[in-house]
Amino acid sequence: MKGIILAGGKATRLYPITKGVCKQLLPIYDKPMIYYPLSVLMLAGIKDILIISTADAIPQFQSLFADGSDFGIKVSYSVQEKPRGIAEAFIIGESFIAGENVALILGDNIFFGSGLAGELKKAMAQKEGACVFGYYVNDPQRYGVINFDENHNVLSIQEKPKVHKSHWAVTGLYFYDRKVVRIAKEILPSKRGELEITDVNNVYLKNNKLKVRLLGQGYAWLDTGTYDSLIDASMFIKTIEDRQGLKIGCIEEAAYRKGYISKDKLLVLANAVKTSYGNYLKKILEEEKYAV
Ligand code: G1P
Repeated sequence: MKGIILAGGKATRLYPITKGVCKQLLPIYDKPMIYYPLSVLMLAGIKDILIISTADAIPQFQSLFADGSDFGIKVSYSVQEKPRGIAEAFIIGESFIAGENVALILGDNIFFGSGLAGELKKAMAQKEGACVFGYYVNDPQRYGVINFDENHNVLSIQEKPKVHKSHWAVTGLYFYDRKVVRIAKEILPSKRGELEITDVNNVYLKNNKLKVRLLGQGYAWLDTGTYDSLIDASMFIKTIEDRQGLKIGCIEEAAYRKGYISKDKLLVLANAVKTSYGNYLKKILEEEKYAV
């Protein structure tokens, strides 16, 4: 399975913060925002990853990840010239996807919850069709919203409806079979001029090939689209990390725990970061020494 992180867009809702810097490079507490979605793909066991962003931002992502080998993965890069919608990722990424199944995660989506690995495993095991995740939110009108019938069957997904029929938003993590490339090419741009991921999902739904998995209260799905949600996300991560002494979205740790990199490599990565982040990576190795 291939993985795509879409980290494009102008993020005008965060101006002037994002006037000179790509949103997905902004810090969420102690690491760049994109670490969080990248760590989710790594947790899912996806090692071949394409980052799609603007021409200006790609060199900056390259200075973070290079070819990915430091983290035991393969990272490549493609440009999205204009914000023509999330579904364009599959057209841009067609040769990268190369007929395989593909997971897409938005570069500004943060997921947290102990059951996440299990949910990802189930989504990965689904070889045909599409799988998306629903999350109960207070402000559904900002998202793709799932409409259910009285038996909890999914009837449709509506993109940013004025009047929402449920509080279940579709998160920015999607799993598709190879047909997604053709579907993305067939849908038409919406009124806002974008190839909507919701239209792709509705095609799968119409063909009875859309699985919606609902993430319950034990999960956090955080948004980073406004000044307030940006600081809220940082505070949330800080609170949990301080309390537990464990990091969220730490790609070096994910690489090590998944067996993608050796102890020696983790030590090299740790020594290169002379902050509490680097000390944390060293602590992982230390604690293992004394583990029973
Ligand atoms: C996009 C999708 C929307 C989804 C959301 C998740 O919204 O269009 O369906 O719920 O991501 O973050 P946008 O980022 O375009 O506002």
